[in-house]
Parts: sequence; structure tokens; C-alpha cells
Amino acid sequence: PDRADDAVPEKQEQLEPLRDRGEDGPLTTNFGTRVDDTDNSLRVGERGPTLLEDFHFREKITHFDHERIPERVVHARGAGAYGHFRPYASLAEYTRADFLQDPNRSTPVFVRFSTVAGSRGSADTVRDVRGFATKFYTREGNYDLVGNNFPVFFIQDAIKFPDFVHAVKPEPHNEIPQAQSAHDTFWDFVSLQPESTHMLMWLMSDRALPRSYRMMQGFGVHTFRFVNAEGRGTFVKFHWKPLLGTHCLVWDECQKLAGQDPDYNRRDLWDAIERGDFPEYELGVQLVSEDDEFAFDFDLLDATKIIPEELVPVRPIGRMVLDRNPDNFFAETEQVAFHTAHVVPGIDFTNDPLLQGRNFSYLDTQLIRLGGPNFEQLPVNRPVATVRNNQRDGYGQHRIHPDHTSYAPNSISGGCPVLASPDAGAYVHYQERVDGAKIRRRSPSFSDHYSQATLFWNSMADWEKEHIVAAYRFELGKVTRREIRERTVEQLNHVDNDLARQVAEGLGLPAPEQAAIPNHGRSSPALSLANPVAGVA
Ligand code: HEM
Repeated sequence: PDRADDAVPEKQEQLEPLRDRGEDGPLTTNFGTRVDDTDNSLRVGERGPTLLEDFHFREKITHFDHERIPERVVHARGAGAYGHFRPYASLAEYTRADFLQDPNRSTPVFVRFSTVAGSRGSADTVRDVRGFATKFYTREGNYDLVGNNFPVFFIQDAIKFPDFVHAVKPEPHNEIPQAQSAHDTFWDFVSLQPESTHMLMWLMSDRALPRSYRMMQGFGVHTFRFVNAEGRGTFVKFHWKPLLGTHCLVWDECQKLAGQDPDYNRRDLWDAIERGDFPEYELGVQLVSEDDEFAFDFDLLDATKIIPEELVPVRPIGRMVLDRNPDNFFAETEQVAFHTAHVVPGIDFTNDPLLQGRNFSYLDTQLIRLGGPNFEQLPVNRPVATVRNNQRDGYGQHRIHPDHTSYAPNSISGGCPVLASPDAGAYVHYQERVDGAKIRRRSPSFSDHYSQATLFWNSMADWEKEHIVAAYRFELGKVTRREIRERTVEQLNHVDNDLARQVAEGLGLPAPEQAAIPNHGRSSPALSLANPVAGVA
């Protein structure tokens, strides 16, 4: 199939003059002065002290001293690749997003896969969620789809994210990680948070052990909104499907690999691209008409829920090929900055409280991680679309603005950027009507924490169920406090009594009685949608 040859070259063309290929020639300081000796510092006599005057020594050591930047607060370990995306057909009926209009035009992308809990140097094959973040360098600006390999999340509201991450990360007193052998804090937190139950089923399944980033699904998780040229909105969930199929390791393999080849997934991605075996993924969408916002027995704004595919099938809309490894890990994979709020006209948010919080968090963290307000000028982050505004100065400013003025409105400078109309491609926020008092309260429509966990459990083959039970037994077996293990079994009993009994048995706990109100998958495929959109059965 058409692979590398259908790539739009703009991003690589933009990067080319920025690549420092280390031309042949004499060694110099950072300011171009040639250097005759980089092995001996300048000193008084052969055995005397080093001189402050040695500017080459000072510069070399100072630069080295500043090589490290903070790792990402989550998703610190990752691997990235460039590629391109092309839609199968125009999606103009649902979205005005330019990169989804023309099947003959491909859009350059950069993708970063990651683990979540571990630090930069941790092993790849741990039991964890995987990040699947895609930056589309569209003609209308960068669009980031910052997803994971699971379609749901641990919490419903972003305000809990710091608590969740503190519980997941190594314990603060001894910094002993728990990603591989979970300890008390993680299970304490999730056993007190029933909303985590569905996500935990995914985490205890083999989906948490991807065999390869080339064989891993991705999900936008939240319900987003497509908006077409007439301003009509359609709810959308995004799905990436690997063309090689979804394949996982088993726990025993993971543990051995973590010792023998901690770079297993990273190496696999790199090697495949180097040998021309380019990973491919199909992008699919689940589309829900706005009339059907309340047609489900869960809330579309609740990130702990999927839309079952029996209700709304996934419609394939395009294909992505990753065909180029980065030239420099730090410059590209480490400095890339994804953000859920990097949107283009035709793609908008919903009021999902997890998404709303993310829309604040990413820019905020990147301001410190990447050292100030100009990180969008770093080569990997730079849009291929033209950037023009009145933002000025700040640490790391690389743009030279010759204009005399930097404000609007402005009658002095002919160079002042003019405002675009929606017809000329301006982003216009979807005009959703909202009304209500200020409250700190979750909607009751977010309160069913078990039905979809049951749905997941019931969809598993026997051997998959065995792996899930084994994972719960292993992980909870590392928990020192009996009450945390008991609480978890109690939560599982709301999912399935058989599951809870098997886990309890493995932990030496009494078998729980069937929960009073058994909750066996209320998400009934019999639901009929008032206004199904095209492609929906
Ligand atoms: C990083 C996904 C929830 C804050 C990431 C990354 C991914 C991701 C894929 C790594 C990006 C990269 O490769 O550079 C998700 C998904 C979520 C979720 C799918 C839920 C559906 C949250 C929430 C918050 C948050 C609720 C905070 C309120 C962060 C931060 C980073 C990050 C601070 C580090 C970003 C950076 O340093 O550039 N997330 N995340 N995430 N996420 Fe999330």
C-alpha cells in the first residue's frame, strides 16, 4: 500500500534546516571560538589549581550541569515516531476539520507511546496503562489526540488526579516503585474509589501488558464533539486500531523481560521502523447525535464508561502510518508537548469534568517542564501552520519580531495581525447552552460504577478470566493491610460474585456472599437511539 510516498513533507522540510548534523570541522565553544584542548583544564603549573579564566572549561561543565529537565509528572517513559495520517473519505457532514476533508491529502503526525507510573528509566513491560498521544500537524494548526490504550479512566473528575497519581507513584518515604508489584497506597486509594472499578478490570487484564506499541489500541477516552460547517455538533469517541491486531504479553513474560530487556517495547518500535516495517493504525469514530445525549444508561460525560459497540459501532475514518524515527530522543520525544486543548476548527470539547481539568493541566505542567512560555517554538512542537500574534518575549524566545507594535486594536502598524472570520478558518467555540448554580457535586448520572465492569468481565474468555483473577491475586497479595484486600474483594463482589470468590480464595479471605443487588451489565444492547447517525446499526 501507499506508505512513505504519500507523506506530506512539510513537517520534515520544516525540521531539515534545524537538524544539526555536526559538520566536519574544528571543535568550538558555544559561541564559535575554536578550541585546541578539551581534555586538560587551564591551570597554574602542572600541579596547580584550575583557573576561573578557563572559559571553555566553565562553559563545558555548566552546560553539562544543566542537561537534565524535569521528567513528565506522569507518562515519563516514552518512545516516539513521525508519520502521516490520511482520511478514507470526507467527514464534512460531521466536522469542518480540514485534515478530515480530503482523502487525497495526508497530514504529518508525531506519536508518543508511554507508560504512566514509572520514571524515565523504568522498564517497558510493567502492568500499567499506556499513553498513545498523536500530534497532527494540520494546515489549521496542531491537533493533539492525547489518548491511552484503555477506553476508560480511573477517576471521573480531574480534581482527583493529584491524589490518584500520589497513590500510584512510588511511596514517598522510600521511593520504591509499585508499578510491578503493587503495594498498599494504590490499592488503598482505588478500593476507596468505586469509580475506579471498571478501569481496574482493564488494568488487571492482559491489555495492560502490550506486546508491542505496534499491536496496541488507542482511545481518546472522553466524548469529544465534532462541529460541521453549519455549526451542528455530533458527539464523537476516537479509537485507534493497530493493523497488526491487538496482542499482549503474559505476566510471566513481562517479568522476565523487565529484567532481560527493559527497553523491549521501545526497541521493538525503533527496529520495526528502521527496517521499513512501518506500524499502521486505523482511526475509527463512534458518532452520537446530540438528540441522543441522554439515550444511554450512563453519562456520555463520564470517562469511566465506554459506549458499547453493540449500541454504536466504530466507523473507520482513516489510517496512520509511522515511518520515521526521531533523530534525537531529547529534542523530539522528550520535548514534545501534547495538550488536549490543542484543537482545530471542527473539533470541540464536552463538559466531561476530567477533560475540562486536563485542558488546564497540560500547558501548566509544560511551562515548568520545558522552561517557559516559548516551548511551542521547539522543532517538534512547531506547527506547520503560520503562527502570527502579539505574544512577545519570555525565556527561550527564538522569533525575531520586526514589528513596531505588539497590541490590538492598533492603527499604527500595518503588520498587526487581523482577525479571521469563521469562513476564513477561525476557531469558534461550540455554542452549547449551559445553565445552573455553582455546585461542587457529581451528577447522579455518574453513579453506576459497576455495570460496565461486569460487562467487561462477562465479555472475557475463560483464559482471560483466569489471567485477571491471577493478576488480582498477585497484586493484592503484595498489599500488607488486610482491610484493603477485603475492601477490594467487596468491590469485586459488585462486579461478579464468582470473580470476587476466586480472588478471595487466592488471598485466604472468606468467600463473599452474592451482593444484595447483583449488578449484571445494565448497559443493554437493546437500547434504541432516537436519532442514529450514519454508520450506526
Ligand atoms: C501526560 C493521557 C488524564 C495530566 C499524559 C500523556 C498521555 C496522557 C498520553 C503523555 C503525553 C506524552 O506522551 O507526552 C491521559 C488520558 C487521561 C489523562 C487519556 C484521561 C482520560 C489526566 C488528568 C490530568 C493529566 C485528569 C490532570 C488533571 C497530565 C500531565 C501530563 C500528562 C500533567 C504530563 C504532560 C507533560 O509533561 O507534557 N496524559 N491523561 N492527565 N497528563 Fe494525562
